[in-house]
Amino acid sequence: MHLSLGGDTFLERIGLAFGLVPAPLVFTTFGVGYGRSIVAATRIGVFRALGHDELSVEQIAEATSCSPAGMRALCAALVGFGLLDRRGGRYRNAPDARKYLLPDGKMPLEDVVLFLGECHSLVWNLEDDVRSGDIVRLHDREHPESFWRAYMGALSSFAKLAGPEIVRKIKAPGAKRLLDVGGGHGRYAAAMCRKVDGLVADVFDLPPACAQGRRIQEEDGMADRVSFVEGDFRTDPWGTGYDLIFVFNVTHNATADEVQALIHKAKAALNVGGSLVIMDAVHAGEDGPLDANAGWNELFFFVISGAQAWPEDRIQGWMADAGFERLKRKGLLAVPQFVLQGWT
Ligand SMILES: C[S@@+](CC[C@H](N)C(=O)[O-])C[C@H]1O[C@@H](n2cnc3c(N)ncnc32)[C@H](O)[C@@H]1O
Repeated sequence: MHLSLGGDTFLERIGLAFGLVPAPLVFTTFGVGYGRSIVAATRIGVFRALGHDELSVEQIAEATSCSPAGMRALCAALVGFGLLDRRGGRYRNAPDARKYLLPDGKMPLEDVVLFLGECHSLVWNLEDDVRSGDIVRLHDREHPESFWRAYMGALSSFAKLAGPEIVRKIKAPGAKRLLDVGGGHGRYAAAMCRKVDGLVADVFDLPPACAQGRRIQEEDGMADRVSFVEGDFRTDPWGTGYDLIFVFNVTHNATADEVQALIHKAKAALNVGGSLVIMDAVHAGEDGPLDANAGWNELFFFVISGAQAWPEDRIQGWMADAGFERLKRKGLLAVPQFVLQGWT
């Protein structure tokens, strides 16, 4: 997906058609404006306060403990960005806000917006990171509980959307034990347990991620089938006797050496006939086309982890080198990701 501008008025459309609109300035101004406004409004609780009602600025300000003057300005920006509608001095959520930003919306993604707000601060010193190339890796840093709550909340929302399609594409008949490495919230492990009778899962992750995962699995009613093991997957043992191992959205935070070490560790932890499934962002290779998603992924994963999404053929080669056979690659419809399964 590329970013492009569409004009509302005849004059705007003419300006765009004749190349008279400086797109870099428009994106620079409104990109940060949209991002900061939606995150601030979500943190403050504007969309929830409005719910399915129509309120004045004073009523929204009172419900969210904000100043009326500040709320008036924020609401103006949200109307401008198409997230609120205004009529006769009263405001209500626009269709996109109702669909994505309310807990009872068709596709609730409030958690993801809150995590993207955390990501804004991670990329704030981008130019320093690019100049120096010295990255203090995200998962090796201390973060407050609020960060882990937003992080795991966002990824678990994606897992709710994409999980059913992903587990449909994984073959593991008769599997008894699953290890979800870097499985965090545990929702992919839980989705697989729902699919395969009798399957139980261990989610192996850092202690603060496990704390969030335990809470989410309690809330989802799957805590009896999904357990959590705290540790560092690079240095701590994984155990043995697994029929299936997931490594989902982990390789883009890992260096090439680390990905190969993870694949070898998976081989050692699996029973004969067991399988490893790697899922991650698609990467078209060194000279492949880069759209906004693929290009930003490259920069974002570098800045947060000194790593990158790895081309699928390289991951396949590393799996084959480690002795995995019958490698099967499947694309996903819900998200621009791939699933790669190989058997011992
Ligand atoms: C991008 S998240 C993916 C979470 C989940 N697998 C998913 O796909 O939604 C990366 C996960 O790897 C975990 N992780 C990163 N480094 C780790 C390490 N050294 N040891 C254990 N877990 C780690 C993070 O805590 C996080 O839960």
